[in-house]
Amino acid sequence: MSKVALVSGGTSGIGAAVALALRDAGYRVAVTHVDQAEEHQDFAQKNDLSAFCWSVNDYEACVAGVAKVEAELGPVSVLVNNAGITRDMMFHKMTPSAWGDVLQTNLTGVFNMTHPVWLGMRERRYGRIVNISSVNGQKGQAGQANYSAAKAGVLGLTKALAQEGARFGITVNAICPGYIGTEMVKAIPDHVRGRIVEEIPVGRLGEPEEIARCVTFLASDAAGFITGSTLSVNGGQYFAA
Ligand code: CAA
Repeated sequence: MSKVALVSGGTSGIGAAVALALRDAGYRVAVTHVDQAEEHQDFAQKNDLSAFCWSVNDYEACVAGVAKVEAELGPVSVLVNNAGITRDMMFHKMTPSAWGDVLQTNLTGVFNMTHPVWLGMRERRYGRIVNISSVNGQKGQAGQANYSAAKAGVLGLTKALAQEGARFGITVNAICPGYIGTEMVKAIPDHVRGRIVEEIPVGRLGEPEEIARCVTFLASDAAGFITGSTLSVNGGQYFAA
């Protein structure tokens, strides 16, 4: 029986590419999406994925959602914490809600999704958790104090969980994508995005599939000795120590 992978925010952008790559690698893949729009279900149906609608912001919804996934597909072996939002603005203009929303989705959302799968992974003595952080969690980004803080928090959470999970066969790793050609990056004003691309030595935005291939590797049995690590995938924009 093939393993089950759960990808939050798995119907668009990086998450969709990850879901398809894991499907192609032989997993039964469940994807979450947050709004009711039919396009999410259509995407899942067309691509042989199972789609579930809940918000990673809501702990109880995550507990109920994971239980539903496990009842329908089987125990979750691979969790990819991908769901994330931006509310970019310079800090002097940042509202408490722009701060709180981003921390809630991008950091607390990782707790909310991971906690419900953790006990089962411990009991089964196997798990692969891949957290999608960001180059901006490594280097910081003007206009993204909220996002940078949340994504840096994800790196700390990853390392702590890696220590706790290791003796139970659970690996926990983070990927820090640079600027990838998704709707999130396309939403940056043209003149700002142009300046950012100039800072990327390979001279282009990344492709979602370039992140998906890294997730598939970290999720595989072949990556069992890799845990607590941060994989930077940013076209040379930033060299983390
Ligand atoms: N460092 C320091 N100061 C900067 C700066 C930088 N990198 N960029 C802009 N500023 C300054 C500007 O010079 C300007 O100063 P003055 O007012 O003195 O002229 C001031 O900040 C305001 O800049 P803007 O005109 O750009 O302000 P704005 O209010 O129109 O826009 C913004 C602000 C929305 C944050 C816009 O700058 C922006 O979108 N920046 C890009 C942020 C970014 O990189 N987001 C990543 C999104 S994709 C993602 O998050 C995925 C991922 O993981 C990588």
